[in-house]
Amino acid sequence: MKRFKVRFYPENREIEVEEGENLLRAAMAAEVRINASCGGDGTCGKCRVIIDKGSAKREPSPALSQKEIAEGHALACRTLITEDLEVRIPPESRLGKIADKERPQPSCGHLVSSAEWEERLANFAADSPFKKVCLSLPEPTLDDNIGDWQRLKRELGKNGIKNSKIDLPVLKSLPETLRKGNWQVTVTVLQQGNECKVIKVEPSDTTKTHYAVAVDVGTTTVVAQLIDIVTGKTIGKRSNFNAQASCGEDVISRIIFSTKDKGLKKLQSLIVGTINKLIAELVEESGIDPDHICGILAAGNTTMTQLLFGFDPRYIREEPYIPTTTLFPWIKASDIGVEVANHTYLYCFPCVASYIGGDITSGVIVSRMAESDRLTLFIDIGTNGEIVLGNKDWLVSCSCSAGPAFEGGGVKHGMQATKGAIEQVRIDRDTWEPMIITVGRVKPTGICGTGIIDIIAELFLSKVINQKGKFDLEIDSPRVRKGEFGPEYVLVWAKDSALDVDIVLSEADVENLIRAKAAVYAGINILIESVSLNLSDIEEIIIAGAFGNYLEIEKVVTIGLLPELPCEKFTFIGNGSILGAHAAIQSQGVLKEAETVAKKMTYLELSTNTKFMDQYISALFLPHTNIEKFPKVIDQLEK
Ligand code: FES
Repeated sequence: MKRFKVRFYPENREIEVEEGENLLRAAMAAEVRINASCGGDGTCGKCRVIIDKGSAKREPSPALSQKEIAEGHALACRTLITEDLEVRIPPESRLGKIADKERPQPSCGHLVSSAEWEERLANFAADSPFKKVCLSLPEPTLDDNIGDWQRLKRELGKNGIKNSKIDLPVLKSLPETLRKGNWQVTVTVLQQGNECKVIKVEPSDTTKTHYAVAVDVGTTTVVAQLIDIVTGKTIGKRSNFNAQASCGEDVISRIIFSTKDKGLKKLQSLIVGTINKLIAELVEESGIDPDHICGILAAGNTTMTQLLFGFDPRYIREEPYIPTTTLFPWIKASDIGVEVANHTYLYCFPCVASYIGGDITSGVIVSRMAESDRLTLFIDIGTNGEIVLGNKDWLVSCSCSAGPAFEGGGVKHGMQATKGAIEQVRIDRDTWEPMIITVGRVKPTGICGTGIIDIIAELFLSKVINQKGKFDLEIDSPRVRKGEFGPEYVLVWAKDSALDVDIVLSEADVENLIRAKAAVYAGINILIESVSLNLSDIEEIIIAGAFGNYLEIEKVVTIGLLPELPCEKFTFIGNGSILGAHAAIQSQGVLKEAETVAKKMTYLELSTNTKFMDQYISALFLPHTNIEKFPKVIDQLEK
């Protein structure tokens, strides 16, 4: 079989592939990152590339016009390589670095800052499941001639560590370690309930160097933090895209990918690869000895955790939606390919159901809503809206499919919150001229989720769109026009953008976002109704997640994503998933509570809930069919 070379720009990376290889797969093999929201299904149109040299077999796609095809545009996932190629990845198709900045206090609601989190985390009991203890053992004599392990175990018992067991490799090297340390050794134990496992014994006193890694295994982004177990402090933080993104944007497309030939293995190795890179960066940055990392605490949604373990996730997608497991065993991290020492153990937060994962359990625990008397609504918005309602006595949850709109998917010029994404917009009510701010303050490349919410709220308040999201084409502004795919608003003219086209938001884009927000609002109402309460009974709304952290309450209420409640009821906690993992590194109680909460939380399946559809249809308006529920929005419209 013939082989061809493909060179990708601007990365300037080349790979040799067999004739007929798919261009998206070639990019993945060359480690060139292309947005592939639909996992190569050919439907999202996000994997657009430009073939500058050579020709390839391109399948026709409605996402490309004849003019674009003539100019060399192609969908990477629908292109087969038949000769040497030079391929350019345009800015809108690249996966860039995710914005990672701390937001200033919002005008409505309270944001828990990193400094405040350090204080809050310090309030969790300092009782890590990973303990290091330095022991001086009496040397054996003819009168005291018990085995080395029995001698160590006896000393552990004297120090309050009972019922200990030992890993086989540690036992094998124990005689040499004890003698090398001249009978003074540091023992690392992992406390699992009533049992203690000796996972490492090293000569001399190393109790001051004791680390673990907290990981948030997100569908889009993976975050890792290096934690000093001795002080409880975060000493390093890194994040990056989940490398699985090239196999599909959301959990459903990843599950579909996992059913393809070697798909599951590929997904598992991609997520492990992402974690490995983050840990390597943390180690390099901090200068610590990686041998002193004894544990990894991970939290992620149900599909991500199944994929991390290499469990087949396909039944999550089929009624009655069953994962392999919701509770995870402690395992050696190296058993699933994580490149850490052989004694490093990994644990994942328990899930509640197929669509309420360990990331939510983790967030609920660290926010302490499960210990509170107050009626609290916890919400994490991404491609799924995960919602929990309750207090210390009861918890009820649901998950609604919001689709990719909040993360910039399914929107013509939508993109993730990377450099160049429009994140804030104001539209002048008289001239309909916009004022925009981009991530990184550079020329705009597209619009991220918060930007899309801003634009829709502003278009609605400026009366460019009506309650149904329909455009008023009578408006006297060149920015409101009939475009190729229907009515649209021009946010950025081509000359001012980083692309060579106008950046627009179309009526179809607005419809996509209205569907997404309606699903979340309907989910909230179903939970409230299920316990015979009213929205006004909610005493606190906790907004978790990377996307949620950048929301402006006034805007999300204007579009009807969240109910209109006083500002003091809203709290932004940021990434609850990693914060919970951090707390669990510090405190065994957190892990125990996580299992209790996961077991006691009731999960409502919305796909079979007949009232959900009624609520959803009522919410398919801006802000809602019943606008009286949003008196402040009425006031703004009347201004
Ligand atoms: S169209 Fe190619 S990945 Fe979606």
